[in-house]
Amino acid sequence: MADASPYDVIVIGSGPGGYVCAIRCAQLGLKTACVEKRETLGGTCLNIGCIPSKAMLQASEKYEEARHGLAAMGVKVDGVSLDLPALMAHKDSVVKSNTTGIEYLFKKNKVDWLKGLGTITAPDTVEVAGTAHRTKAIVVATGSDVMPLPGVAIDEQRIVSSTGALSLPAVPEHMVVIGGGYIGLEMGSVWARLGAKVTVVEFLDFILPGMDREVGKQMQRILAKQGLAFRLGTKVTGAATTEAGVTLTVEPAQGGAAETLEADTVLVSIGRRPHTEGLGLEAVGVALDDRKRIRTDGHWRTTVPGIYAIGDVIAGPMLAHKAEEEGVAVAELLAGQSGHVNYDAIPGVVYTFPEVATVGKTEEQLKDEGVAYRTGKFPFTANGRARAMNATDGFVKVLADARTDRVLGVHILGAEAGTMIAECAMAMEFGASAEDIARTCHAHPTLNEAVKEAALAVDGRPLHI
Ligand code: FAD
Ligand code: NAI
Repeated sequence: MADASPYDVIVIGSGPGGYVCAIRCAQLGLKTACVEKRETLGGTCLNIGCIPSKAMLQASEKYEEARHGLAAMGVKVDGVSLDLPALMAHKDSVVKSNTTGIEYLFKKNKVDWLKGLGTITAPDTVEVAGTAHRTKAIVVATGSDVMPLPGVAIDEQRIVSSTGALSLPAVPEHMVVIGGGYIGLEMGSVWARLGAKVTVVEFLDFILPGMDREVGKQMQRILAKQGLAFRLGTKVTGAATTEAGVTLTVEPAQGGAAETLEADTVLVSIGRRPHTEGLGLEAVGVALDDRKRIRTDGHWRTTVPGIYAIGDVIAGPMLAHKAEEEGVAVAELLAGQSGHVNYDAIPGVVYTFPEVATVGKTEEQLKDEGVAYRTGKFPFTANGRARAMNATDGFVKVLADARTDRVLGVHILGAEAGTMIAECAMAMEFGASAEDIARTCHAHPTLNEAVKEAALAVDGRPLHI
């Protein structure tokens, strides 16, 4: 039976793409509903992604620092021990305050939460829990799911996805992480700091594909010093679960003799895939691309008029802030404004210690595209604040157009890189040159001074090295 009062917009999915889109639609005066099948709002990011992982990264970093970092600064701490249930309770409470926060924001902005699985039954109708809701526009923001690995069945006990890795009941003896990307390095770091031996098995010859290669290489060296072992150029071809753990079969990626690896916990983190099942997309004619993502044009319109899509379910980096930007842009387009996302200035951050942060093009991309560029680099060993923090690992690298000096990319490996990258994204958003960053007064002593120095180094005139 159709709902009596139709909506202007129904957003399906309440992750950072969907909930932000719904709030912005409501702010712009559109009658808005958001459909969510989970018991709580916030999607992958708030429930089983960004937020819980960062709570565990933060807690485990403090544990590591208390045990191994503080004494070098003259702070003696005795009897440091891990209370894993308390760490998990901290994580759960952070998740709860964030997800209930979205509920509050929905009430404040008068966004209706339609609880249940949303199915598109016509271009203007979404069915939820047996009720058909009419709407002028539909925004699909159904996110992504874990990418499975054939032969390595996830049971969330011994062989876990990121979701299981956020709730292990005890610290594993030996955790094998399959995939040296965002999740593998973040969750691998967490469990290594808490006491597990961690081995990262990566198919490629390097970690962090998509990031600047020089950054990835140095990151690997730093993580190896922290105790993580790496098996690069290696693929996992099978897993057998026993009482004691898991026996993995691994082979060189390019072919060769197989061997086995024993682990008590295996984390599968080889990427995520768009979540499009059960939505009724085929029936209404919404087309997917070759990677099963919803196909959209430059205005996030799908192949069916009135149906839009944003976030992990479409092309582009699977990042919360990218989904949010798209959510805002679509809301503004639906309200008759001119929403826009600058895909050239979307930062990415890996929250390990030190952090890896990137925005814009990598050196490899610029080479592939035949762009002439200049490079400015500055190491944290030469930054006063980094020395004071005992956090001198890493560097800032600024890539600028050789002819115009426009900043094309910035790559940072270092403590708080994720915070530092914001000024670089801002600079790129405004079309800044390296000279613009170099001539901007940076407070002293801050880690950000390394960004200024790297910008100066583009022109061969750093001051402190
Ligand atoms: P999602 O957040 O996936 O939300 C989609 C929602 O739609 C879900 O709640 C789902 O239940 C709901 N849904 C799906 N189908 C239906 C349906 N038919 N009806 C009703 N509801 C439906 N990104 C970052 O930028 N920073 C990070 O630090 C970070 N950390 C991460 C850590 C982990 C462990 C993981 C797994 C991911 C992390 N990400 C991070 C990625 C980030 O979570 C995603 O990019 C982001 O959540 C995508 O947002 P979204 O709105 O597109 O979809
Ligand atoms: P990922 O794409 O970041 O990394 C996957 C890694 O697995 C790659 O290095 C890839 O080469 C490797 N791989 C693929 N198949 C393999 C195989 N068969 N054997 C061994 N290695 C294999 O994906 P990940 O880590 O699963 O994360 C999914 C996405 O979630 C990320 O791409 C990112 O968009 C998002 N995310 C973002 C975070 C952040 O912003 N800090 C944190 C966690 C996730």
